[in-house]
Amino acid sequence: MKQENILIIGAGGQIGTVLTDALRELYGDDAVIASDLHPLENQAGPSEILNAMDGQALEEVVKKWRINQIYHLAAILSAKGENDPMWAWDINMTSLFNVLEIARQRSLNKVYFPSSIAVFGREAAHQDTPQYEVLIPETVYGISKVAGENWANYYYRRYGVDVRSLRYPGIIGYQSMPGGGTTDYAVDIYHYAIQNKPYECFLSAGTRLPMLYMPDAIRATIELMEAQANRLSVRTSYNLAGMSFSPEEVATSIRKQMPNFKISYKPDFRQAIADSWPASIDDSAARHDWNWQPEYDLDAMTRDMLHQLAVKYHMTV
Ligand code: SER
Repeated sequence: MKQENILIIGAGGQIGTVLTDALRELYGDDAVIASDLHPLENQAGPSEILNAMDGQALEEVVKKWRINQIYHLAAILSAKGENDPMWAWDINMTSLFNVLEIARQRSLNKVYFPSSIAVFGREAAHQDTPQYEVLIPETVYGISKVAGENWANYYYRRYGVDVRSLRYPGIIGYQSMPGGGTTDYAVDIYHYAIQNKPYECFLSAGTRLPMLYMPDAIRATIELMEAQANRLSVRTSYNLAGMSFSPEEVATSIRKQMPNFKISYKPDFRQAIADSWPASIDDSAARHDWNWQPEYDLDAMTRDMLHQLAVKYHMTV
């Protein structure tokens, strides 16, 4: 077992919930300090109530647990951020600066900061969007991620802080729920399907977006963090891809197991956000630098999601 003391900020969130367990498996329960704004339940290891907007509180937690790695997962996502852009900007940037500064001041070993496909806008290539592409995001979330990527790169080059980052596509998992994103439908749809409820989708039938199943997302994150530093050529954030699909295609995939599943479409303001994002991503830099390789395609993910949710809801597929 490796001697690391890892702080996860946003451990109660969609990715944090699963990543906390995965890191505890790898480093030991007590080596991973799970933190969030609210008390975390059912923890196998230590946890803290922490508001990452409070730099002093963050420093106290870092000192208390002799933290040498931080995974900073807390952020306001794309759809929610549009309700109050200045608030979303403040949260996303202030919390990131607090993390980067503590990492610089206390010479932490590594920092993880997730970015997103939301860094791209309509000027970017829509298919197989390259790693180095024009970044003109149309949401405050996307703007904060472009700025964050550049600050991550700056802290690496100027201060030698080993910040690593992935541009996550929409992430789908059965263990936790997303909150306030444009890709949230791709999780919700499975919960409706397994309960034999029809689903009304807030994106149009043909809206293709890049997506990734949770086990692939967790493995990508850990593989990036474990890669040798000198292999990483990208210090802003790596493009990361798994699959691409539209709501119509998920519905078809679900119907292979649940033929009666019904979907209807009522696009709302999130359609414009989705339309500004790529349909597919070129992640060859990640494949080249640290051998990234996704495992799940749409049907493999659907089989596993429905199986896992059937257990959760005590239903049969
Ligand atoms: N899933 C995120 C969102 O929709 C994309 O990073 O905001």
